[in-house]
Amino acid sequence: PVSTVETSEAGASAVTADQPSPAGRATFPPGFLWGAATAAYQIEGAAQEDGRTPSIWDTFSRTPGKVLGGDTGDVACDHYHRFRDDVRLMAELGLGAYRFSISWPRVQPTGRGPADRRGLDFYRALVDELLEQGITPMATLYHWDLPQELETPASGGSAAGGGWTARDTAERFAEYAGIMADALGDRVELWSTLNEPWCSAFLGYASGVHAPGRTDHVAALRAAHHLNLGHGLAAQALRAALPTQAGIGIALNPSAVRPLTESPADRDAQRRIDALANRIFTGPLLKGAYPEDLLADTADITDWSFVRSEDLAAILHPLDFLGINYYTPAVVSAASDPDAPRKDGHNTGSHSPWPGADGVAFHRAPGELTAMEWPVDPTGLTDLLLEYTAQAPGVPLFVTENGAAFDDEVDEDGRVHDPDRVRYLHGHLTAVHEAMRRGADVRGYFLWSLLDNFEWAYGYSKRFGAVYVDYGTQARIPKSSAHWYARAARDGALPP
Ligand code: NOJ
Repeated sequence: PVSTVETSEAGASAVTADQPSPAGRATFPPGFLWGAATAAYQIEGAAQEDGRTPSIWDTFSRTPGKVLGGDTGDVACDHYHRFRDDVRLMAELGLGAYRFSISWPRVQPTGRGPADRRGLDFYRALVDELLEQGITPMATLYHWDLPQELETPASGGSAAGGGWTARDTAERFAEYAGIMADALGDRVELWSTLNEPWCSAFLGYASGVHAPGRTDHVAALRAAHHLNLGHGLAAQALRAALPTQAGIGIALNPSAVRPLTESPADRDAQRRIDALANRIFTGPLLKGAYPEDLLADTADITDWSFVRSEDLAAILHPLDFLGINYYTPAVVSAASDPDAPRKDGHNTGSHSPWPGADGVAFHRAPGELTAMEWPVDPTGLTDLLLEYTAQAPGVPLFVTENGAAFDDEVDEDGRVHDPDRVRYLHGHLTAVHEAMRRGADVRGYFLWSLLDNFEWAYGYSKRFGAVYVDYGTQARIPKSSAHWYARAARDGALPP
């Protein structure tokens, strides 16, 4: 595979985007990765095959009322059986990279002890297909499917349980990372530990709209810390087992959070959410400490005694890249009314995902809405890329996810025409180009998602794919956005 990431210690050379050409086409540097992303539970199906044990999402999706329509990932896009066809489709679309996630309970059933060879073989075969087609793989170790046994051990089991609220889960995660490095280290060069730990901690343990569905603010803060620790320990395990040219990073979903007005109260609301959405991760990851204002804002909830000083040293492990997932900005204000909305677009539940931020209200940003009712505003992506460039100097960035759901339908002629998604992608890739022009070292872009898939609490009702999936027949139909993206990837420039 092409080595696209140099370690930051080795001093990665920044690449800068060309100015738009006279014809107005934004061109990207050679070597820029044009990718697409997916996640195991959202596409694989085969939930009970080849030794896979349940994850917290199998349990959650079976709990009545948790997922729209009672949908589960049992079959999903049946990618476990169709991965060869799916990789062929990626090649036809000219993708240069593919970001996928590994199902922990498929390769290490119950989350501890020996690996299951069948699970490892599946990912080896997937990666081999990708490499054969010249597609660079990026493997994500954790995209939310924690082995259920680590959350609630079966009676008689030896596990401590508690999921990410427990230190043991961080240690188990590092062991699993070592297994995967041994299994795929000879063929995967880009490794991402966690995907969107904010969602795992705060949607999983505070608002409860994601698995495991708990609504406990102390648990959520403990989970955030143990996710950070899990990242640090896993990064150490990967570094010890992988060849030196391998790049190790994490995919965050930083919030581009804006104050409703410039009043001191609204600015303070922005500061609080910035602490809980962004700095709770970047503090320990990049600076080796949790922000003082976060500790103060949450002092009534916890004394943070679950953080040990050696944890902070582990979490500060050098990053070879930072992944940024971006969809929409957030607008906040001080809440005058105690019943003011405390939710952002991810949260459909009645419990706040924001510990210690009761006095903050969320507002809809201006802009056209996607099917998720998320306003379209590409400037948030430019802002975040520049912000992370400043915060993590010398660390290359990837846009590890960006995309939109729309209510796509198959025409009478069997095609799927999605001009809204083309506009969304055009706008956001232009925003990436703009950040690069202003100095951000962005090495690639992964469209979310390759395929329509299981959109968590929304089940199959939201379609994010560049490729339409007919769930009845499992037919794949590239949408017009897929053809548009293929052209951009081929030219290394945005179609006019
Ligand atoms: C974030 C997640 O990583 C992904 O799993 C999800 O489907 C998309 N964003 C869209 O919500």
